[in-house]
Amino acid sequence: MTYTTVLTEIRGHVGIVTLNRPQAMNAFNILMLNELFDALEAFDKNETISALIVTGNEKAFAAGADIKEMADATPVQMITEGRVEVWDRIRQIKKPVIAAVSGWALGGGCEFVLSCDMVIASESAKFGQPEITIGVIPGAGGTQRLARLIGKNLTMEMVINNRTLSANEALQFGLANRVVPVEGYLDAAVAFAEEIASRAPMAVRMAKDAVNAAFETTLTEGLKAEKRNFYPLFSTEDQKEGMQAFIEKRKPNWKGK
Ligand code: HXC
Repeated sequence: MTYTTVLTEIRGHVGIVTLNRPQAMNAFNILMLNELFDALEAFDKNETISALIVTGNEKAFAAGADIKEMADATPVQMITEGRVEVWDRIRQIKKPVIAAVSGWALGGGCEFVLSCDMVIASESAKFGQPEITIGVIPGAGGTQRLARLIGKNLTMEMVINNRTLSANEALQFGLANRVVPVEGYLDAAVAFAEEIASRAPMAVRMAKDAVNAAFETTLTEGLKAEKRNFYPLFSTEDQKEGMQAFIEKRKPNWKGK
């Protein structure tokens, strides 16, 4: 598949999608959104790949939705042109998705990062929801995912008063997993992703699903969801292999089944 607004690359067991509209600070137009999700879905189905990375360039991960493309839109066009609902496709990706962020992650760019499972931030990363400065509010999950992740008051400040977070603040508030030097930030993310890719694939899949359940439900229902994912793992060859390898003091050899 050839894309015009994203680049794809496979390194080892990691599939990398690079947002590639540098002339527009990687703003998401409709084409780029569709290409991004198509590429992620293709990697999700590719059996040689165990973890995914989405990245941008050093200056910009993504500066949000393409303002020029949506400036004259009507509410009906916002609904029908696939600009907003399309974001839900990220929730269907089963493999872990890591955002490797350098420079600006604003508006929809920040919301995309919030939809990923883990975040590696370069020291220059800056996260914000500046929609208020152009007369709107986040529309791709920002108000909900930020509030769940970093709490209400700071979310209010970001959404209502355009407060941005530095990389170190993102780390402090739980939005980033690691902060790394700008130089080599993607390599650091690939090393991080390779470590995840070396884990038992079915367990990773079940773990991702169970953690996500925590944001959807009560504790009682969440604990049930966890058990629904825990018990079936005892029917996998990898569970037998993992526990036997521990007993035999050797490294497990995962089969993904
Ligand atoms: C369209 C954009 C853009 C955007 C930047 N550009 N962001 N085009 N949509 N979101 C374009 C600029 O117009 C400019 O094009 C080129 O990229 C370089 O940007 P500059 O502004 O000249 O760069 P700089 O001064 O370094 O400032 C970088 C920036 C700034 C801080 C990222 O561009 C900025 O504030 N961008 C807008 C951020 C924003 O408001 N995002 C929220 C969007 S709404 P030209 O042609 O002039 O060279 C949103 C809602 C999502 O995301 C809801 C779900 C659908």
